[in-house]
Amino acid sequence: MVFSPLNKVREYKRGALKEFFEHIDALLESDEVKQLDDYRQHYCFSRLQHSIDVAYYSFFLSKLFGWDSKSAARAGLLHDMFLYDCHDDSYKVKSHLRLHPKIALENARGICELNEIEEDIIKKHMWLITMRPPRYKESYIVTFVDKYCALRELCISVTRRCGEKFAARNGYGSLNRA
Ligand SMILES: [Fe+2]
Ligand SMILES: [Fe+2]
Repeated sequence: MVFSPLNKVREYKRGALKEFFEHIDALLESDEVKQLDDYRQHYCFSRLQHSIDVAYYSFFLSKLFGWDSKSAARAGLLHDMFLYDCHDDSYKVKSHLRLHPKIALENARGICELNEIEEDIIKKHMWLITMRPPRYKESYIVTFVDKYCALRELCISVTRRCGEKFAARNGYGSLNRA
């Protein structure tokens, strides 16, 4: 009896995870998205791991508030859709921070059709570094979740020894799909 609310939370989380993957499964099958796993994003984490985590937390929060969680999931997955190493030199890193949302948006448009909210999420996800503020509440969720995930990845990475390239990847970010 005492554990009943906990079971309800677990059940809700399981249902949410299933719904989340229903929204993004087709995108995960595309070659371009699969290639994100070949690039380091933050220290031990591949760009695919980072993108799936951003997508999931954004989906979960949007769902909790009753907002457009499907758009948050899809655009969260595609928000860093660029296929190059951004750690080459400091000049590139600086311009990359401002420019990569536009590159990601162009690449995402080549993978699937995007609605207005999804376009805004991808284009404005670097808000505070880029000046134009997001237009939709889901875009605010993704921009703050992105920053949270970057910080979390940094913290996890400093307590772990990254391998030759980067840490063992499971392909699903920090989620256990089973
Ligand atoms: Fe980004
Ligand atoms: Fe990101």
